[in-house]
Amino acid sequence: MSKPMFAAGRTLLILLACCSLFFWVGCTEIPEPATPSYKTKLAADETSSKAFGEQFPLHYQSYLENRDDTRMTEYAGSVPHDKHDGVNPLPKGYKHAQPYLKNLWLGYPFSYEYKRARGHVWAVTDILHIDRIDNYSEEAKLPATCWNCKTNKLPEFYKTHGDDFWSMEFHEFRTKVDVEDNAIGCTLCHDPTDMSLRITSVPLNEALLGMGIKWQEATRNEMRALVCAQCHVEYYFTDKKFGPAAKPVFPWGKGRSPEEMYEYYKDFGPTTREGFEGNFVDWTHPVSDTPMLKAQHPEYEIWHDGPHGAAGVSCADCHMPYIRVDGKKKISSHHWTSPLKSIERSCLQCHSDKQPQYLTERVIYTQERTWEQLLVAQEKSVRAHEAVRLAREQKENRNPNYDALMIEARENIRKGQWLWDIISAENSAGFHNPAKALDTLAKSQQCSDKAVSLALAATNYQIGPMLEGDIKEIVPPIMEHSRKLQQSREHLDSHTWLGYLPLLPEAEKVWDGQNKLR
Ligand code: HEC
Ligand code: HEC
Ligand code: HEC
Ligand code: HEC
Repeated sequence: MSKPMFAAGRTLLILLACCSLFFWVGCTEIPEPATPSYKTKLAADETSSKAFGEQFPLHYQSYLENRDDTRMTEYAGSVPHDKHDGVNPLPKGYKHAQPYLKNLWLGYPFSYEYKRARGHVWAVTDILHIDRIDNYSEEAKLPATCWNCKTNKLPEFYKTHGDDFWSMEFHEFRTKVDVEDNAIGCTLCHDPTDMSLRITSVPLNEALLGMGIKWQEATRNEMRALVCAQCHVEYYFTDKKFGPAAKPVFPWGKGRSPEEMYEYYKDFGPTTREGFEGNFVDWTHPVSDTPMLKAQHPEYEIWHDGPHGAAGVSCADCHMPYIRVDGKKKISSHHWTSPLKSIERSCLQCHSDKQPQYLTERVIYTQERTWEQLLVAQEKSVRAHEAVRLAREQKENRNPNYDALMIEARENIRKGQWLWDIISAENSAGFHNPAKALDTLAKSQQCSDKAVSLALAATNYQIGPMLEGDIKEIVPPIMEHSRKLQQSREHLDSHTWLGYLPLLPEAEKVWDGQNKLR
C-alpha cells in the first residue's frame, strides 16, 4: 500500500523540481537583444532611401560607401568585370575566371553578358545596361520579375499590380525608378515607422510559409540572415500552368541542398519532351539539345548548413560589422562587401585569438581548392555537351538503345551543370560552406563523366577519338558573344558551337539606360 504512495510522492517531487528548474531558467533567460527601436517621422510606405537618410544620416553615409568601393580581393571584390575573362586586366577581366561560361550558357541570355556583382546602390544602373535584357527591342524578353531584387520600388509596384506585375514588360518600369534613390534600399529590410527588420520579398515570405515559418516570429539573429535571403538565394520564374506567370518562387519544397532543389525541378514545368516530362526548364542548350537549369546566387542556402550558418553566425555578423562613426557612435555597417576588407571588425569579434593574416589565409585556402575543382567541373560539363553534340551528329551505326542512352546522357548533363552552376554562382568561392562546395563539385564531375560515357555508348564508341585530348583544343572557350554579335553571320560561323544558334535580325538599340532612342 505504502510503496505506490511513496513512488507517487517521489514523482511529484521530481515534477516539482523540474517545474521550478524550468521556471528558474525561464525567468533568468536573457532575452535576445532587439534591433534598436525608433519612432521615425517616415510614412509607413516610404521608399526613398534619401528620406530615410535624413533621419539616419550616419547609416545613409555608410550605405553610400557601396558606391565608391573599387577594392578587389583574391577571389572577389567590387569591380564589375566579365567573369569568363581571365586574360584582360580590370575592368574587362580578372584572374580566377571561368573561361567556358559563354559556352555553358549558350542560347540563354546569361551567355551575352555576365559580370561580377558590386555594391547594392548600383543595382538599378547595372540592370539597365546588362545585355541579358534585350535593349534592341520593344520587348525585353525578360519579365518585370527581374526588378524584384533591384529596387526599393518593388513593394509599391506589387501593391499596384499584385501578381500581374511579374509577367508585365520589363521595359515598362525602366523610367519609373530613380537610378540613385531607388536601388536596393532601406525600406526593403526595415519598417519605416520603427526601423524593425522586416521581409518585403513576396517569394521569401511564401517559401517560409511553405516550411511552416512566419518571419514575424523569427528571432533577431534569424532576421539578420533572412533579410539577405530575400535576394541572395536560388529562385525560378513560375510557368503559368502552376501559378501567376513569371512569379519568382524559391525551389525549397524538398529542402535547400543542391540535390534537393534538383529533385524539386523535376516538377513545375510544362515540358512534354520525352524523358523530361513535367520538368522545369530554363532553356534548351542548342549544342547538346538538353533541357537545362540556370542557378542563381544561392548564398543563403549554401551558408545555412555550413560551419558558420549551422553555428548561427548570421550574414550580418560578417557583412555588416559594427563600425564607429562620427567619433563615437557604434552602428551596423551598411556597406555590404567582402568581409576580407574588414577582418578586424567582421571576424575578430569571435576569432579574437587569431591574426587577420591567418584568417585571410584560411579563407583563401578554401577558395583555392574550390576554384580548382570548379574549373574541372566546368570543363567536364563542356566535354559532356560536346559528346552529346557529336552523338547527335553521328547518324550511322548507332546503338540499338540510342534514344534511351541519349535521354540519360542529357539528364546527366543537366544535373552535372546544375551542380557546377550552384557553386559557380555562389559568390564566396566555397568559403560559406567548404565541405558542401567540394561535395557538390565532385557530384557535378561524376554526372558529367557519366554523360560522356552514355554518349559514347549511344554511338557504339565511334565518337571516342574525337573526345580525346585537351578540352580547350576540342572546344575552344567562346570569349566574345553578345546580342549584337548574334546579328552577324560571320560571328556565328567563327565557332562550331555558335553555329547552332539562330541568326538574329539586324537591329539597333531601342534603350540606352533610361533613354528611349527610337
Ligand atoms: C539588406 C537589408 C538592409 C537594408 C537595405 C538596410 N538595412 Fe539597416 N539594418 C539591417 C540589419 C540586418 C541591421 C541590424 C539589425 C539588428 O542587428 O537587429 C540594420 C540596422 C539598422 C539600424 C539600427 C542601428 C544599427 O546600426 O544597428 C538602423 C537605424 C538602420 N539599419 C538604418 C538603415 C537605413 C537608413 C538604411 C537605408 C539607407 C538601411 N538601414 C538599409 C539591414 C538593412
Ligand atoms: C533586394 C535584393 C537584395 C537584398 C535584400 C540583399 N542583396 Fe546583396 N546584392 C543584391 C544585388 C542585386 C547585388 C549586385 C548589385 C550590382 O552588382 O549591381 C548584391 C550585391 C551584394 C554584395 C557584393 C558587393 C561587392 O562589393 O561586390 C554583397 C557582399 C551583398 N550583396 C551582401 C548582402 C547581404 C549581407 C545582405 C543582407 C544584409 C544583402 N546583400 C541583401 C541584392 C540584394
Ligand atoms: C563567417 C562570415 C560570413 C558569413 C556568416 C557570411 N559570409 Fe558572405 N562572405 C564571407 C567571406 C569571407 C566571403 C569571401 C570574400 C572574398 O573572397 O573576398 C564572402 C563572400 C560573399 C559574397 C561575395 C562578395 C563579393 O565581393 O563579391 C556575397 C554576396 C556574400 N558573401 C553574401 C552572404 C550572405 C547573403 C550571407 C548569409 C546568407 C553570408 N554572405 C554569410 C564571409 C561570410
Ligand atoms: C559570430 C561569430 C563568428 C564570426 C563573426 C566569424 N566566425 Fe568563423 N567561426 C565561428 C564558429 C562558431 C565557427 C565553427 C567552429 C567553431 O566552433 O569554432 C567558426 C569557424 C571558422 C573557420 C573554420 C571553418 C571550417 O571550415 O571548419 C574559419 C576558417 C573561420 N571561422 C573564419 C572566419 C572568418 C574569415 C570570419 C570573418 C569573415 C569569421 N570566421 C567570422 C564563429 C564566427
